[in-house]
Amino acid sequence: MLKIKKVLGLVLASTMLITMVSGCGAKETEEKNKVKAEKLTIYCGLMEDHMVAAVKEFEKETGIKVDAVRMSSGEIMGRVKAEKENPKASIWFGGPADGFIQAQKDGLLEKYISANAKDIPEQFKDKDGYWTGIYKGYLGFVSNKKLLGEKGAQAPQSWEDLLKPEFKGQVVIANPGSSGTAYTLLSTVIQIMGEEKGLAYMKKLNGQIKSYQKSGTAPGRMVGQGEATVGVTFLHDAIKYREEGMKDIVLSVPKEGTGYEIGAVAVLKGGPDQEAAKKFVDWCLTVKAQELGQTVGSYQFLTNPQAKAPKQANELKDTKLINYNLEWAGSHKNELIEKWSNAIK
Ligand code: F6P
Repeated sequence: MLKIKKVLGLVLASTMLITMVSGCGAKETEEKNKVKAEKLTIYCGLMEDHMVAAVKEFEKETGIKVDAVRMSSGEIMGRVKAEKENPKASIWFGGPADGFIQAQKDGLLEKYISANAKDIPEQFKDKDGYWTGIYKGYLGFVSNKKLLGEKGAQAPQSWEDLLKPEFKGQVVIANPGSSGTAYTLLSTVIQIMGEEKGLAYMKKLNGQIKSYQKSGTAPGRMVGQGEATVGVTFLHDAIKYREEGMKDIVLSVPKEGTGYEIGAVAVLKGGPDQEAAKKFVDWCLTVKAQELGQTVGSYQFLTNPQAKAPKQANELKDTKLINYNLEWAGSHKNELIEKWSNAIK
């Protein structure tokens, strides 16, 4: 009898244990499913390979599933505007902050001050928390050494140099309506020359243009491949192409000074998965996330002072910059693009 009681007791105890363990398991699975269910849609202004690396690392660290698509600044703006009533994405990741300022004015951004934003210096973030800077890039000229040699020409040293006869039909830039890079160019020229002279300059430059590209990342590639002699681009992109084997690429900067971008990240208003979006912004501001770009050839300067800038950016450290008025550039974006497109008609 005693033996039977002992056996029954043992059976009961092990059943309870199994129930407890499987109960725990169910809870764990439930938690895992919750994390698994978290997802995020991102519109991204970075180079494709940088975007892929960032998505992979963020997914690995958080378990959040990401859908990301690369577009130029103006395209992202157009998409977000068109989806305003039914937003599909929750993050705008990368691209000059001018576009973010415009988006904020149009009511398309959600304010979010990440706890990690305390590590980012004031000059790299919106004072009201609508966007936070993640990198900084300088605008400049990219030329093809071989084609310059064939023409007996020098790489341009000033904005005026782009108007030289030897560059007629040989200059490639992007369209300021679609590209954040090209808008930085337009706004830089107007900040240096004033509106009237600046637009007159853009009109003359129009006479030199081989083609207007959708993205500001294209001129460096085209010049590197020998399809055009000169281009205007963010210089870190030209360094990337040169490192990837386009050895004829040479860089130069306008002696009057040049404009620059603060590349930003922001939460889109009313987008799904707002919590996941905030986690993404938090992540973008970390040292690890910022140092990721240089592993795939993105050589911008970084906004987190603890993050190590890519050594490739060193050659740009003495570039003469203008005192780029970002707030002005962002809030006049639509208007300036319209004036530019009328000027070059
Ligand atoms: O990712 C490269 C890059 O040059 C960024 O530094 C910049 O913010 C973005 O591309 C600009 O792209 P686009 O001219 O296509 O808007």
